[in-house]
Amino acid sequence: MGTKSRGIFWIFIFSNLMLSTKCSSFMKNAKISTRIVQTRYGRLQGLVVPMDQHRYLKPIEVFLGVPYATPPVQSNRFSPTRTPSPWDGVRVSDKPGPVCPQKLPDITNETAALEKMPKGRLEYLKRLLPYLKNQSEDCLYLNIYAPAQGKPFRIFLYRSQSRRS
Ligand SMILES: *[C@@H]1O[C@H](CO)[C@@H](O)[C@H](O)[C@H]1NC(C)=O
Ligand SMILES: *[C@@H]1O[C@H](CO)[C@@H](O)[C@H](O)[C@H]1NC(C)=O
Repeated sequence: MGTKSRGIFWIFIFSNLMLSTKCSSFMKNAKISTRIVQTRYGRLQGLVVPMDQHRYLKPIEVFLGVPYATPPVQSNRFSPTRTPSPWDGVRVSDKPGPVCPQKLPDITNETAALEKMPKGRLEYLKRLLPYLKNQSEDCLYLNIYAPAQGKPFRIFLYRSQSRRS
């Protein structure tokens, strides 16, 4: 972020996985934000999430599935990441992007699963698995969490390594 980030108080960047662990409950009263945020690659419209269950927490603004690199598919596969292509218009960032391809543990038989893992991990997997089903090689997306605020602010996305030899 550095000095360029004037106007940003703080931004948490989580991986898609982090989102999934909490998403289902705290995101349930999310509303589309009225604000459009300018980034280096295009405009974003996120969600405003009230922290209803936490009386001392203020609402947050969430931008889900923001691309941070060109999808590593076809000729980009196994290559250094490249900056995302700018997009036209407003990108509504209200859904997480796909996760990278991975083999999911089979927990359909919970008794059998508990022979291999503690109960805490099983519960964690049960919450997570619905979000891990949407898999794609096109998986380089961020979820960005920031305090909801009236004033416009800019999100500076880091430029990923863009040079290819
Ligand atoms: C999977 O992700 C893609 C890209 O974000 C999205 O268009 C699609 O709706 C998602 N599918 C499911 C089942 O969530
Ligand atoms: C589930 O796993 C347990 C322990 O391995 C086994 O005894 C049981 O038969 C399995 N149940 C089903 C429905 O497959």
